[in-house]
Amino acid sequence: EFATALSRIIQGEEPDKASLIILLSARPGEEEEALYREADNFRARYVGEEVHLRGVIEFSNHCRRLCHYCGLRADNRRLRRYRMEKEEILKSARMAVELGYGTVVLQSGEDTWYSAEMLAELVATIKGMGLAVTLCVGERSREEYALWREAGADRYLLKHETANPRLYHRLHPGMSWEERITCLQWLRELGYQVGSGNIVGLPGQTLEDLADDLLLLRKLRVEMAGIGPFIPHPDTPLGSYPAGSLELTYRVLAVARLVLPWAHLPATTAVGTLSPNGRQLALQRGANVVMPNLTPRKYRGDYQIYPGKICVNEEPADCRYCLEGMIHSLGRRIGRGPGHALRPLTEN
Ligand code: 5AD
Ligand code: FES
Repeated sequence: EFATALSRIIQGEEPDKASLIILLSARPGEEEEALYREADNFRARYVGEEVHLRGVIEFSNHCRRLCHYCGLRADNRRLRRYRMEKEEILKSARMAVELGYGTVVLQSGEDTWYSAEMLAELVATIKGMGLAVTLCVGERSREEYALWREAGADRYLLKHETANPRLYHRLHPGMSWEERITCLQWLRELGYQVGSGNIVGLPGQTLEDLADDLLLLRKLRVEMAGIGPFIPHPDTPLGSYPAGSLELTYRVLAVARLVLPWAHLPATTAVGTLSPNGRQLALQRGANVVMPNLTPRKYRGDYQIYPGKICVNEEPADCRYCLEGMIHSLGRRIGRGPGHALRPLTEN
């Protein structure tokens, strides 16, 4: 059964939910090894040996939302909140140029203190440094997304988090799954390279939900997909639930490579947090991107989406050299240039 499902997918058959569930249930040993081997083959064939580095500037940890899993949630009074000033953000972007990164990701909690105009100005200035810009600041109006696109933003990350609307509504009070999908459609219409993705191992999530995550990513024709394990944060409502399984996360990632062969798939920081060689293994099981932290060290500990996040005591340059070593030790090379989507929009 497993072997049949795998061979049908690698021959490019349109995946159905049942075969995705079979692949996601690969058993340790031969089945998992075959899955990881095929994912690595697809990675080599479609996106090659380059590993793209995306420098992430976590510029504010203020957030108006109440996501049940996230340490930045508005209700978390134990978190020391910070906002980086414009000049400080630009300094981090200049560091990205120095370290040879082609892309900066401007990431924050949903913090409306930064007006659309302010962010547009930042985007334009950073674009002027020759960098590609990815925004990751949550749900905003179509007009705001349009303004940033006009200012030069290339990409936008907005994870759908889970394709199960009921689970989504349970974990995101006051938010709407349908509205999130609408945001993703706007971003697409506005010509962004769109990234989405999901958390693996959320309390109450099933394999069927994960198969739906993969089908949704295909339907959205995403250029990027971030797939990481749930990590419980003690100061959140999900603090006492177990972490997502790392092995299951690798299986979702590997199947994602098979169903989205051209997509940029990061070896996520969350995978690196659950295991010291987590990102290396992810890079060998479908991933082709890593996202080094560019946030000034004094703020890193406070961008606590989940506890134990790696690189909190490192400086931006430390992560650069750490990742260079990691990539070379895997026999791969660092991506040059902006590392844009490898396929024209909507043709994934
Ligand atoms: N565990 C794993 N991932 C998390 N995220 C937020 N909180 C957690 C957690 N506790 C992820 C979400 C979000 C991204 C920035 O971090 O997917 O989109
Ligand atoms: Fe930050 Fe390795 S990536 S220390």
